[in-house]
Amino acid sequence: MASSIETFGLTKRFGSFTALDHLNLKVEGSKCVGFLGPNGAGKTTTLKLLTDMIFPTEGGCRINGVSVQDDRKRALADAGVLIESPEIYPSLTPNEALGMVADLRGLAASDRRDRIRTVLGEVKMSDWADQKVGRMSKGMKQRINIASALVHDPAVLLLDEPSTGLDPRGMAEVRAIVRDLKQSHRLIFMSSHILSEVVDVCDEVALIDKGKLLFYDTLENVTARFANGHSTVDVLLARPITPEDVARRVTPLPSVAGVQQLDPKRLRVRFTGGLDGQEHLVEALVGLHLGVVSVAESESALEEIYLSQISRGD
Ligand SMILES: Nc1ncnc2c1ncn2[C@@H]1O[C@H](COP(=O)(O)OP(=O)(O)OP(=O)(O)O)[C@@H](O)[C@H]1O
Ligand SMILES: [Mg+2]
Repeated sequence: MASSIETFGLTKRFGSFTALDHLNLKVEGSKCVGFLGPNGAGKTTTLKLLTDMIFPTEGGCRINGVSVQDDRKRALADAGVLIESPEIYPSLTPNEALGMVADLRGLAASDRRDRIRTVLGEVKMSDWADQKVGRMSKGMKQRINIASALVHDPAVLLLDEPSTGLDPRGMAEVRAIVRDLKQSHRLIFMSSHILSEVVDVCDEVALIDKGKLLFYDTLENVTARFANGHSTVDVLLARPITPEDVARRVTPLPSVAGVQQLDPKRLRVRFTGGLDGQEHLVEALVGLHLGVVSVAESESALEEIYLSQISRGD
C-alpha cells in the first residue's frame, strides 16, 4: 500500500482565531511534498494536528489510512516527525541520543547498532557518532534530529521547516539530506516558507495561507498554470540601455509579452512560445547589438507567483 497523509475538513481554532480552516489535502506515494506558506499560515498547526500534539476543533486526519485522532499509536507507528527541533542533551553523543530514541521506539536490541549506524550515514554524521552533541554546530544538531526521526525506518516523514535557523551551508546540507531521503521510497511532507527551498527539494507543492489551502499540484503544473503560457528570462547587458530604447527596440520584438527594466543594464523579459519562443527571442536580442552578455531563466518567476497567491498586508 502506498504511503499517504490525508486531512479532511481539518480545522483548528484558538479562541475566536481560526489558525486552520477546513484543510482537505491528500498526498500519496513516494515523493517529497512541500507544504509552503508564509509565517503564520498554519503549517506548524497542521503538522501538530497530524502528529496528535494538538486536537482539531473540527475534522481529522489519517496517516496511511489510519485515523490519528482515533488510533494515534497505529497511525504514527510508521511516521518520523521533526517539529520545532528539540534540544538534544549536550553531554550525550549521537550514538547515546539515538539509542534512547531507539529504546522509546521499541527497536529490538539486536537491530539497534545497525540501524543507528545507517541513519547516521543518511544524515552524513557517521564520523561524529561518539562526539558530544554540545560541541556541534546547529546544523549538525539538526541532522541528528533528522536521524532521530528516521531511527525506526518510517515510510512517512513529517518535517517542519527543517532548515530554518541554520546558516546557508547548514541549510544546503539539510536540503541535500532531504533530497537523498527522497530516493529511499518515503513520503516526505516538509513545511517551508522559502519558495526556492521547495523548488529545490520537492516534487509537489501545497500552498496554504491564513489557514486555507490555495492549491496542491506538481511543481511543473504550478509553474505552467500561473505563468499563463508565459516564461521569463533575465537579460544582462554590457552597457546601460535607456528606457526609451527598451520601449522602442526590445518591447516590440516578436513573442515578447512585457519588459521590465531592473536596472540600467538588466532587463526582465516575459515572452510566449516556450523554448522556440526563447530561441527566437535570444537571436533577436543578440541581433539588436545591445551588448547582451547573458540570458538566464528568471528564478523570480515562481517567486512572483508565490507572492501573488498569498494575500499580503492586514
Ligand atoms: N497555541 C496557540 N494559541 C493561539 N494562537 C496560536 C497558537 N498556535 C498557533 N497560533 C496562531 O495560529 C497561526 C498559525 O500558526 P502556525 O504556527 O501554524 O504558523 P506557521 O505556518 O507554522 O508559521 P511559521 O512559518 O511562522 O512557522 C498563527 O497566527 C499563530 O499565531
Ligand atoms: Mg511554523
